[in-house]
Formats: sequence, structure tokens, C-alpha cells
Amino acid sequence: MEADILMDVGLLRNYDLYQYLLETSVYPREADYLKEIRALTSTHPMAVMGTNPDSGQLMALLLKLINAKRTIEIGVFTGYSLLLTALTIPEDGKITAIDLDRSSYEIGLPIIKKAGVGHKIDFIESAALPVLEKLLEDHDNHGTFDFAFVDADKHNYVEYHEKLLGLLKPGGIVIYDNTLWAGTVTMPEDSVPPVLLPFRKPVMELNKYLAADARIQICQVPVGDGMTICRRL
Ligand SMILES: C[S@@+](CC[C@H](N)C(=O)[O-])C[C@H]1O[C@@H](n2cnc3c(N)ncnc32)[C@H](O)[C@@H]1O
Repeated sequence: MEADILMDVGLLRNYDLYQYLLETSVYPREADYLKEIRALTSTHPMAVMGTNPDSGQLMALLLKLINAKRTIEIGVFTGYSLLLTALTIPEDGKITAIDLDRSSYEIGLPIIKKAGVGHKIDFIESAALPVLEKLLEDHDNHGTFDFAFVDADKHNYVEYHEKLLGLLKPGGIVIYDNTLWAGTVTMPEDSVPPVLLPFRKPVMELNKYLAADARIQICQVPVGDGMTICRRL
């Protein structure tokens, strides 16, 4: 199955069922600004990278459940998940948002500003690892973040995990996105679309790593492209 077709059928592999879920429970509750950023992103050649709105809905629920205030986002792209987080956390909440590429963030930025939540975002144009390392250099940051969303270069997720556990509060949550990698984790390697091949093994390794990590409680959910929710114990 080609990667872009997966946007329509999701992991359910069933167009009608996935559209039913979206149309019944997700789109009616999706904020207008999020609809706007999603529509804007849909014309981007890499639109497939945007966070699925059903994943966003779960994220927002978790952010509210833990009353998240201080968060980290790795992998911003045009800003769907970033805007969702900014709309969900309280007025004095803060997001450290990291991406290698500021130009994609700037596509969604006018909508973020229009939504009145730009002041909650500290965007850092950089590879994520040095930013996490720098945050950890300051002991005052240890154990202070409520939430992290990781949606970037899958082969670095294990390293991100080690750093993020130092930054998260006990009870804090980190979500790793795309942990079922378009269903390729169970496909024979020679039937995986070439564009999906490079991250397939890193995702499979991450899944084993998280499952064996006694420092966290986990739940891998087949929402969007698969999300693993980890709660720091
Ligand atoms: C799947 S997209 C993120 C989608 C975003 N969460 C959304 O809701 O639209 C992945 C992003 O990760 C960024 N990225 C890739 N490698 C990175 C790295 N090492 N450090 C920081 N960002 C990275 C890419 O530039 C890209 O914008």
C-alpha cells in the first residue's frame, strides 16, 4: 500500500470505517483553527507528515487529563500538533517546539497567531538532540516537564527517550508517534513501500525498547499511525 493512501484508510485499512470515525467523533469536535491548518497543509507535497486529527484528539484528552502546562514537541512541520497543544494547555502554559526546518513552521504560523496562542510557543530551529542535552545541563529543568510529543526522525527516538525521561516529571507523559509505521512493522521487508523502509526497523526496535523499559507505564494505541503513550513512573 502506498504511503499517501494510508491517509484515507488509516490503520483500520477500511476507508468507510476510518471516515466514519473521523466524521462522527473527530471532525465535529476539531477546533476551526485546526481545520484551517489541516486544510492549508493538505496542499503541501509532504502533507502525509501532518499529525492525524484522530491522534490529535487523543493527545488533547491526555493533555487535559494531566493538566499539562510545560511541554516539549519534537517535529513541528506546519504545526498541527503544536497548535493543538497550544490550544489545549492553559494560558500560562509553555511549549518548547523543536524542528530542523523553520520554513514549514512558518506556513502554519499565521494561523497559530490568529488563534491567539503564539505566546505559548518557544520555537527552536535545530536538531532535537542538542536542544534536549542543553535543557538537561540546567538541573532546574530536571523533572519539570508535564508532556512531550515526539514526531520526527524515528532512528533517534531511543536517544530522545533517554533525555526526555530526565526532563519529565514523575507522572508526566511522552507520546511517540507512528509506532505502527503504516502497518509495515508486520510486513515482509520486500513488500514495504521503499519510502517507508528506512524507519521500519528503528520503529520496531523502539517498540521493543519501550516495552522493556521498567521506568514507564505504556500503552500502544492503533490511532492515527500508531501512538505509544508512556507515563513516567
Ligand atoms: C512528521 S513531521 C511532524 C508533523 C507534526 N507533528 C504535525 O503535526 O504536523 C516530522 C518533522 O520532524 C522534523 N525533524 C526531522 N528530523 C529532526 C530532528 N533530528 N530534529 C528536529 N526535527 C526533526 C522534520 O523537519 C519535520 O518537520
